[in-house]
Amino acid sequence: MSAPTMPRVLSGIQPTADSFHIGNLLGALQQWVSLQHESDAFFCVVDLHAITVAHDPAVLHRRTLSSYAQLLAAGLDPDVATVFVQSHVPEHAQLQWVLGCLTGMGEASRMTQFKDKSQKAGAQSASVGLFTYPILQAADILLYSADEVPVGEDQRQHLELSRDLAERFNTRFGDTFTLPRTRVMKGAAKILDLQDPTAKMSKSQPAGCVFLLESPSAITKKIKSAVTDSEASVRYDPETKAGVSNLLTILSAFSGQAVTDLESEFSGRGYGDLKGAVADAVVAFAEPYAARTNELLAAPDHLATLMRDGAQRARDVAVELLQRVYERIGFVSAT
Ligand code: TYM
Repeated sequence: MSAPTMPRVLSGIQPTADSFHIGNLLGALQQWVSLQHESDAFFCVVDLHAITVAHDPAVLHRRTLSSYAQLLAAGLDPDVATVFVQSHVPEHAQLQWVLGCLTGMGEASRMTQFKDKSQKAGAQSASVGLFTYPILQAADILLYSADEVPVGEDQRQHLELSRDLAERFNTRFGDTFTLPRTRVMKGAAKILDLQDPTAKMSKSQPAGCVFLLESPSAITKKIKSAVTDSEASVRYDPETKAGVSNLLTILSAFSGQAVTDLESEFSGRGYGDLKGAVADAVVAFAEPYAARTNELLAAPDHLATLMRDGAQRARDVAVELLQRVYERIGFVSAT
């Protein structure tokens, strides 16, 4: 009997902020770091996705390098996982075209992230790229035959589209794509905004968002001013105590302690104590994270070598899959 092969895992993150935030870390990156040892893992900085909204080239350039460095600082090991930049692998855009031709206009129009973002931009000024964003995401996933996609809750709908497109292609042209499963963290799949705990934490709302590369004092200040409630009892109840429950989720994810243990630990104590413990836990992670990120960014040649190796390993897989897709749909080979 042959040894069972490891599942293939793929996920991506946008280089659209100077720093990843604790939602990214707890919803996605923590899973990536642990999965790299038990899977054949591919992680990419999705710079093609980052240009679907207006951007500044110099800023995108800086953020792409920083994002790559932050993935390593968070614990991804480039000798274990394949860590790469999406635009270094042209097959992503090529497969996106094919999948776009299988996607219905209505289907793409139903994507809630497009609806939200295009509303913000004004419906007419949203780009076609923003509209086709989830199809590119499907290409990212299907190109690597990913079995599992570790993401936060907000990505579920896009992953359903990926599965639908994979199934549709397989039905029309023969079995080619693996149907990917969504993998979300229990508890931390949706970290909430500290100022508005009815919304997810997002870089677009910086007041309620803790960025990992912020200074320890800025991190502490944001956490200390988190919105709670007037009950003064540390209890996990997301329905009626969203702010406090969010703080417990964050502390639990950083400390590895169960939420119920934290409830006992903080029983009879005030929210100030809880916030202090959350701030200490986040800063204890963020300080070495920032130091590692800066160290990597200070050695650009080394970073470039890692990116090149990652891209090469990713391409080895992507080229082969795209070729199979081209054959299946009837394209004539140039060779
Ligand atoms: P992005 O860059 O917005 O976010 C990266 C990851 O962080 C997760 N996340 C959160 N998790 C919990 N709580 C939060 N408040 C929170 N905010 C963000 C996201 O769910 C995500 O897992 N479309 C993707 C990028 C992408 C991708 C892919 C993902 C492109 N291609 C292929 C998976 C597979 C995105 O915008 O993620």
